[in-house]
Amino acid sequence: MDDIVHGAGREILADPSSPRDPEVMPIRKIGVIGAGQMGSGIAHVVALSGYDVVMNDLDKERVEAALAAINNNMTRQVASGKISEEDRQKALARISVTDTFAGFADADLVIEAATEEETVKRKIFVALCPFLKPDAIVATNTSSISITRLAASTDRPERFIGLHFMNPAPVMELVEMIRGIATEDVTFGRARDFIESLGKTTAVSEDFPAFMVNRILLPMINEAVYTLYEGVGSVDAIDTAMRLGAHHPMGPLQLADFIGLDTCLSIMQVLYEGLADSKYRPCPLLVKYVEAGWLGRKTKRGFYDYRGEKPMPTR
Ligand code: CAA
Repeated sequence: MDDIVHGAGREILADPSSPRDPEVMPIRKIGVIGAGQMGSGIAHVVALSGYDVVMNDLDKERVEAALAAINNNMTRQVASGKISEEDRQKALARISVTDTFAGFADADLVIEAATEEETVKRKIFVALCPFLKPDAIVATNTSSISITRLAASTDRPERFIGLHFMNPAPVMELVEMIRGIATEDVTFGRARDFIESLGKTTAVSEDFPAFMVNRILLPMINEAVYTLYEGVGSVDAIDTAMRLGAHHPMGPLQLADFIGLDTCLSIMQVLYEGLADSKYRPCPLLVKYVEAGWLGRKTKRGFYDYRGEKPMPTR
């Protein structure tokens, strides 16, 4: 690994639980499971910060697409002067791919960013753990599922943590950190130092359904879908209203397409079931779009149709 380029050039604060303790192994190599939007964004930011990264996905084509997207996004960053061409080349050279979890044997931290389904994540953790070093930390990028429950499917609940990156990970400043019931302070300290070394700011959430950002954001998006469903406004009117009337960088329906409508629905279901409150019921129109396979940008159709030159509202 090269010297770590601290993304925001920020000093890491001393803390009793911090791995500044020489007994604690530094984090150098990062595994990323899942090469979708989040996995590729995380690999991007981690490699640019000087860490070696090894990526894995069941689908080889998705890995190829992720590497192309990382290259493309880094090229945009070079064009806008955010990074140098040398940074781009060095970061890309730090990213490797593994077909099997055996490729994570020397990883200090593995971040799971697979699909937002608990059974899928649990299967991954059961298969992954036997290959890991005893002191390796396992993190999940889940946006809603209980960290304590996911930790229970690993052999190391004390070295398990929620690290919730926002999309697009290379741009968004925040990472939510969530401890499970068994997460040790030293794990939390190591993870927090790692996140800060990426130039990100952390916000600590308790382990409740959808944590903080999505507990607030997703009901707003779901309400926007109800606003559409009840005919209060068109897709364009709702998004224009929130972009210009509330200064949101994206309208809520545009943002839903960006996040993925399947992910939005999963998060609403976790809120609805986890908090047992009817105010979180997913809008039937959101369910219908997901059933149609109109999942947003990734399938080229959602509340907008992305198949032409310009996104066109579908309602
Ligand atoms: N990688 C690297 N850089 C990227 C990027 C990526 N994937 N996507 C955008 N950028 C950069 C662009 O290169 C551009 O940089 P410059 O200003 O230096 O040229 C900058 O970001 C702005 O991008 P664009 O000009 O393409 O577009 P924009 O101004 O509309 O910004 C946006 C795009 C940053 C995504 C902005 O629209 C935005 O902030 N949207 C809201 C995103 C948001 O709310 N995310 C949270 C979603 S919720 C979540 O993630 C939690 C969950 O679990 C569901």
